[in-house]
Amino acid sequence: MIEKIQALKEQIEALSASNAEELEALRIKYLSKKGEITALFNDFRNVPNEQKREIGQKLNELKTLATDKINAIREAFNANAVADVDIDLTRTSAPQEIGTRHPISLVRKEIIDIFSRLGFTIAEGPEVEDDWHVFSSLNFADDHPARDMQDTFFIQRNPADVLLRTHTSSVQSRIMEHTQPPIRIICPGRVYRNEAISARAHCFFHQVEALYVDKNVTFADLKQVLLYFAQEMFGPETKIRLRPSYFPFTEPSAEMDISCDLCGGKGCAFCKGTGWVEILGCGMVDPNVLEACGIDSKVYSGFALGMGIERITNLKYRVKDLRMFSENDVRFLEEFKSAH
Ligand code: DAH
Repeated sequence: MIEKIQALKEQIEALSASNAEELEALRIKYLSKKGEITALFNDFRNVPNEQKREIGQKLNELKTLATDKINAIREAFNANAVADVDIDLTRTSAPQEIGTRHPISLVRKEIIDIFSRLGFTIAEGPEVEDDWHVFSSLNFADDHPARDMQDTFFIQRNPADVLLRTHTSSVQSRIMEHTQPPIRIICPGRVYRNEAISARAHCFFHQVEALYVDKNVTFADLKQVLLYFAQEMFGPETKIRLRPSYFPFTEPSAEMDISCDLCGGKGCAFCKGTGWVEILGCGMVDPNVLEACGIDSKVYSGFALGMGIERITNLKYRVKDLRMFSENDVRFLEEFKSAH
């Protein structure tokens, strides 16, 4: 038995095969059920007991040797097989598609950058809000239509209202209730309204809110910030105009228009012949809001403004249909490659 093992060992050490079929034949010859090594294992029961230990060990070594050898030859074949494939290693690789930022993200970043140059820092608040932060603290009357289910998504009505915020103005009260002035924040975020989805309205969109509260903040400060923002965003030729308006949380309130950059203010279809397009709401923070949030309105004053990011994006990039922002159509997103 020992000589037989030795002889097989020498054979196996010298094994070689030039293709997969030859290799398979060798495997069958030595390791299959009827193979030579398997036959030795079958004979093992006839080995005298005192030799079993030594021979058993040698047999096992022989089997491992054969398995390793055959595997090694197979691996060498596989490696060569890859090398044999016709690859042109000098060819340049296929271009890697790099993703693009969503236009809303691009414009949000641009707005944030402009305000941070003026010292505003980012503040955030929850999208699922309570009535106090979205309405009551902001001086909304109890019968204000925004408190209606037709305008606002309520998650729970009783005992306390839980709702999806309809504007980022809610972040104002969240910040003011635990921070004393000076406060200079910008709050970007998603907001929700119970609207039928169309090209011009959506049930969710994005806003950026800005709030500045300190001693002696005046309407002149607001105007200067608005002009700076408009010219940074839309170009140095941009003019602004303020129209009186109403918001519960500001007094006085205004809406800001910028000169239409399509027609240069002469009047075109885009600005409906007026030469102006509306971009945001603003005003001096109503003293009731300051007081509701624990800020002394006799000492401090402030201004606030809020704008829709989709609206600004439409003005910059002329996106005609609001739904495109949330459709995730890669062709639409790819149009913004050069805007990075
Ligand atoms: N919250 C208003 C809206 O959703 C936008 C707005 C208007 C915010 C005037 C303000 C503001 O801070 O002063 O339509």
